[in-house]
Amino acid sequence: ETYETLLIERHADGYAVVTLNRPKALNALNSQVFADLTAFLDSVERDDTVRCIVLTGSEKAFAAGADIKEMADQSYAQMFTENFFAAGHDRITRFRKPIIAAVSGYALGGGCELAMLCDFIIASETAKFGQPEINLGVAPGIGGSQRLTRLVGKSKAMDMILTARMMDAAEAERAGLVSRVVPGERLLDEAREAAAKIAAHSPLAVMANKEMVNVALESTLTEGVRFERRLFHSLFAFEDQKEGMAAFVDKRKPDFRGR
Ligand code: HXC
Repeated sequence: ETYETLLIERHADGYAVVTLNRPKALNALNSQVFADLTAFLDSVERDDTVRCIVLTGSEKAFAAGADIKEMADQSYAQMFTENFFAAGHDRITRFRKPIIAAVSGYALGGGCELAMLCDFIIASETAKFGQPEINLGVAPGIGGSQRLTRLVGKSKAMDMILTARMMDAAEAERAGLVSRVVPGERLLDEAREAAAKIAAHSPLAVMANKEMVNVALESTLTEGVRFERRLFHSLFAFEDQKEGMAAFVDKRKPDFRGR
């Protein structure tokens, strides 16, 4: 399992750590990164030994943005025809298992967008988030203007996007962009522990829970609650629900089989 731009470490506890690996370019996201991510997600979508993913970068940079050197000379026709980064974006949003972003250092532009495409973000105290595309005469292009606004609200999103300033980890946590902030040396352990916890749950329940939360961003409250109720009811069709509740009653650990 080798990728040009990713390092993959599969863990016996049922998760994989995917490390962006373009150190010389601060993990700038080029087409190869998205091709590799897509191939990896394809390969584990139906692989029950990977029930959660941790996506991380280096200590200095989660990812410093889309690869400016790759984009610089693109024409409108090329961007439009290629539908630049749409396939990669869509592949990630279609992935049904949780992806945790473990962010240290820069998460800028496409890097911030990639982190926001993950299901939640754990940040090191050194993390810096920003959408500085306006400095380059462009704009977010992998969902940043939409996801950042939903996550932190209009005022902060406008501030970040129009001034191109960076948010540090403490501000990102206050604003609701990240779920937790930990010291740098704890970052990967914290993310691994969260991934192992998720991987120990019923994989069916995990997928259903992820799907429910995502519906909240794209529906009215009434529609979302109806969706939740129907999906909740449907979980009673799985053996894992019987096992989970029986284990509680018997005061033992559940043995979820994903059935
Ligand atoms: C290509 C990049 C890069 C990027 C850094 N590098 N970011 N290459 N694309 N986004 C390269 C640098 O050119 C340099 O290569 C090496 O990585 C180290 O970077 P330095 O700038 O020397 O490091 P430092 O001085 O520590 O500054 C770190 C930084 C700065 C503040 C993060 O690199 C920076 O501002 N990067 C650009 C951030 C940005 O604008 N991101 C948004 C991109 S647009 P060499 O070869 O010189 O050593 C975007 C659009 C998304 O993301 C939508 C697309 C559809």
